[in-house]
Amino acid sequence: MSDRIHTLSGYFHEYQKSVADPENFWARVADSFHWKKRWDKVLDWNFEGPDVKWFLNGKLNITENILERHLYTIGDKPAIIWEPNEPGEDSRTLTYRQLYEEVCRFSNVLQEKGVQKGDKVIIYMPMVPEAAVAMLACARVGAIHSVVFAGFSSNALADRINDCEAKVVLTADGNFRGNKKIPVKAVVDEALENTSTVSTVIIYQRTGQEVSMKAGRDFWWHEAIEGKDAHQEAVEMDSEDMLFILYTSGSTGKPKGVVHTCGGYMVYSKYTFENVFQYSPGDVYWCTADIGWITGHSYIVYGPLLAGATSIMFEGVPTYPHAGRFWEIVDKYKVNQFYTAPTAIRALQAHGTEPIEPFKLDSLKVLGSVGEPINEEAWHWYHTHIGKTKCPIVDTWWQTETGGIMVSPLAGITPTKPAYATLPLPGIQLAIMDTEGKEMTGNSVEGNLCVKFPWPGMIRTTYGDHDRCKQTYFSAYKGMYFTGDGVKRDHDGYYRILGRVDDVINVSGHRMGTAEVENAINEHPLVVESAVVGYPHQVKGQGIYAYVICDMKNRSEQSLTNEIKDTVTKIIGPIAKPDKIQIVPGLPKTRSGKIMRRILRKVAEGNMDNMGDTSTLLDPDVVDKIIEGRIE
Ligand code: WTA
Repeated sequence: MSDRIHTLSGYFHEYQKSVADPENFWARVADSFHWKKRWDKVLDWNFEGPDVKWFLNGKLNITENILERHLYTIGDKPAIIWEPNEPGEDSRTLTYRQLYEEVCRFSNVLQEKGVQKGDKVIIYMPMVPEAAVAMLACARVGAIHSVVFAGFSSNALADRINDCEAKVVLTADGNFRGNKKIPVKAVVDEALENTSTVSTVIIYQRTGQEVSMKAGRDFWWHEAIEGKDAHQEAVEMDSEDMLFILYTSGSTGKPKGVVHTCGGYMVYSKYTFENVFQYSPGDVYWCTADIGWITGHSYIVYGPLLAGATSIMFEGVPTYPHAGRFWEIVDKYKVNQFYTAPTAIRALQAHGTEPIEPFKLDSLKVLGSVGEPINEEAWHWYHTHIGKTKCPIVDTWWQTETGGIMVSPLAGITPTKPAYATLPLPGIQLAIMDTEGKEMTGNSVEGNLCVKFPWPGMIRTTYGDHDRCKQTYFSAYKGMYFTGDGVKRDHDGYYRILGRVDDVINVSGHRMGTAEVENAINEHPLVVESAVVGYPHQVKGQGIYAYVICDMKNRSEQSLTNEIKDTVTKIIGPIAKPDKIQIVPGLPKTRSGKIMRRILRKVAEGNMDNMGDTSTLLDPDVVDKIIEGRIE
């Protein structure tokens, strides 16, 4: 039974049902899955704890709904098609049967290495099919995976290993990205010097580069799976057992481990995938995200595979070996649904339309956008040049914490409007709140975006620190989940996401806490203090602007800023490297010592005409000095 909505009136009808009787609504959706034991109760919740449970006492294994479920019906259908970095290298296809066998083999490896239900496994891998196999094998044996984007530094990796006390790391020798060959295992080795919980490392051989192997701890993937049984009994999980932890940045402190659980996430990722993309059996679907982010979890791996779809996985980058690579891949596999980030669209837009010309792109039916607000110009470019004006664009708003898409058009059903994520999906009850904590009802309003009723894919806790979950998401507005985003509801009731209202910036669709970048900058021995803000960036959406007070020690500004950039790369990774670093004599602080970021944001934006009230500053002169030294 499919829960696909087919018409706009069907959408409104389903939406009404989902609000009037959420439990029945989601029970009906959940009934289309295979449960080892059906749940006793659909939902138990309060947002004060918060304490949210879906499908209570239901028993399942998510991988049975991906593997066994499809084995006898679509066993020969491609589940994953992998396109390598080099166009000349052979692509690979894993059918549902092959995926079943690979996952079972690797599940047997994990169990042989002593991995048990509840153990944490870090996956630090390039975009190869084995990364998906690794995730599913963890889920199959009841281990909790935590995928770490392979661009993160050894420090960032060690932090995550330590936070979740991982027992196993699954990795690769190296990673091909464009014309680069990046070491991966070497980063793991460095990280493990500062961790003590990891007893096993399994290394998938991808680049063939030399790696050091520690006897008793490190094993090659291909050797480990040799002779392993291609069958394995999936471990029974409770609906509310953890499925995975995914670390994400917030406005304070270190990244936190967002926890998703088995039952609700399964139901929500598949339901949203089928409805938003209007996936039909036989379609070829491609999401260009990395599996290190939530988009890769929900819409490369879980959602599409639960739906029995063919999901493309691309190892490389959009501009290698040429700026038409995405379109070449679309034609090669006759991709029907294509899902990418605005930053990629803008980067390709900068190359003009020439790289698109050799390609037909006539297989495309749906275009998707995710990760950051899509500006109207990029929306139109995407619509005209890629979708040839015939493909609906689904601008999908959601977060690591929401597990799946929350606000989005349903492809071809919901009338679209450039830069608008349009309407909430069934089951999603939004509220726009003013600064006094009052809900703003009616249309043509703007405020902070909250959700007032639970949905199955939502965050359950932040790993190891439930209070942090409560403080971050459930304290700003009583009885509501606060998203951290500003939003506008226009005269038609359509939602437009305006961007973060907290100290989180969105750089090329990657979430970055300004405090996290500041902490990394402050690791440089000559840095006294720093403040980081976002500013509008043509391609990245937002760029990182850092104001830094330094002890110059006869160093040139140039060499010092380069050193600071290297420090950030080392502590977090290249994605957090500031675009602009301004050495300043002081920061604009109030008498109570609080940095007035509003002023720093205005200078970074180049919007210095009206600096607002600066009378509460301890030293108002510092503002003029900052403006003087502004980096263009
Ligand atoms: C932003 C990515 C506008 C938003 C799935 C959110 C968006 C943050 C959109 C979550 C969109 C995501 N329009 N903004 N369509 N999608 N965002 O956790 O600020 O990496 O809070 O999840 O990205 O980023 P995350």
